[in-house]
Amino acid sequence: MIETEKESVLFDPLNIGKMTIPGRIIKTATTETMSTEDGFVTDELVAFYEHYADAGTALIITGNFYTQRSGRVYNKMPGADHDDKIAGMKQLVDIVHQHGSKICAQLSHAGRQVFQPAAAEDPVSASAVTDKFSGVKPREMSIDEIRSFVDGFARAAERCQRAGFDAIQIHAAQGYLLSQFLTPYTNRRRDAYGGSFEKRLRILLDILHAVRERVGEDFPVLVKLNGDDALPLRKGLKTQELVAIARVLEEHGVAAVEISVGHYESGFPTICGNFNLFLKTLLNDGVGREYPRFKQLAMRLSQSILAAISNWLWPHREGFNLKYAEQFKRALKIPVICVGGFSGQKAMAEAISSGQCDAISIARAMIADPYLVRHIRRRETGPKCEFCSACLAHIGTRAVNCFHPKVSAERVLMIAREKSLPNECTS
Ligand SMILES: Cc1cc2nc3c(=O)[nH]c(=O)nc-3n(C[C@H](O)[C@H](O)[C@H](O)COP(=O)(O)O)c2cc1C
Repeated sequence: MIETEKESVLFDPLNIGKMTIPGRIIKTATTETMSTEDGFVTDELVAFYEHYADAGTALIITGNFYTQRSGRVYNKMPGADHDDKIAGMKQLVDIVHQHGSKICAQLSHAGRQVFQPAAAEDPVSASAVTDKFSGVKPREMSIDEIRSFVDGFARAAERCQRAGFDAIQIHAAQGYLLSQFLTPYTNRRRDAYGGSFEKRLRILLDILHAVRERVGEDFPVLVKLNGDDALPLRKGLKTQELVAIARVLEEHGVAAVEISVGHYESGFPTICGNFNLFLKTLLNDGVGREYPRFKQLAMRLSQSILAAISNWLWPHREGFNLKYAEQFKRALKIPVICVGGFSGQKAMAEAISSGQCDAISIARAMIADPYLVRHIRRRETGPKCEFCSACLAHIGTRAVNCFHPKVSAERVLMIAREKSLPNECTS
């Protein structure tokens, strides 16, 4: 069904370590708000991913699983922190495998970036630097806590492997705990885990080694990294330093990197788009309702100005992280996956055939259209994402979905139609 040679690159196989995936379009992590309060996988979560597998998506990266409860980003987030979670995780894996797709579990710790205030029990970070977006003031992790975190991460990776996941992804981007350790602005430590490049990187390498000991050499371990911290006037990391980090990760056996951008405190470079509906939803129906009254009032009063400034600073563009990804691509031999703004097959195919990245990954356009890969393969058009990010504004309060009035209505009809069609993953 794909007509031109250039566009067919989207269905070329790709080796990620010992794993081969049948295409270059990846469903990236979108946290789901679909687990139980205790972090167990639910039928709703399994059903959510079945659409992507049914559509023939080459690789599905799950929303973030916490490795220990103190690392939750929001309530109803899944956990990989206990063996009793393995059975539920296995159900999820099995359904994806039945359709012929591969699935990778993203593992994370929020550190100071607790999205939902109610999830913050005792927030920790590399250093006690308040997050200006969430207002969370974490305390500095002790060396003992770092050791137990590393061990917990490795145990969580092993549980994912036992559940049958094809790979894991370590979340070291977007200002989460490991990103907080990498970034001098958030890491002010003067011990073995802070200061120099090597020391800020140490916790990530400790995790890699601990994970390897538990999952063996052949299990693919991916890392999500920033292409730029986007922290102007603060000591954020720039692309060249992040590329240097990726080179070390490559030497330590990482199978692929996925390139994103920003911290919560950067504003919204991670989700370039249109922010009118996002801010309205966050305040009226999202975690904004849990913000302190003064913060809510200030945000309500400045909402339209905030939206106008954000729309101007971070407008939607297909492949908005490609300028970073291509620099990683030049420096690395392992596959480079680029996330950010993709929705049309032309931009995706160009990104790959021009050599800027090896694969592209998608969040919002695949929430709008979980059958995007099938539609691309058949040259059909599904519901088209408006990049309003209302999906993100509901994290912690409602199950992930498209909340754009027009697009979500199209989505419901499309899913009913597509669910009955045959799977095309490996055809
Ligand atoms: C609803 C939603 C949930 C997200 N959850 C995660 C997550 O769990 N882990 C993560 O690394 N990024 C998460 N992100 C960020 C995306 O993975 C991605 O980096 C970002 O949305 C840009 O891609 P896009 O333009 O295709 O949406 C989320 C984004 C959205 C919209």
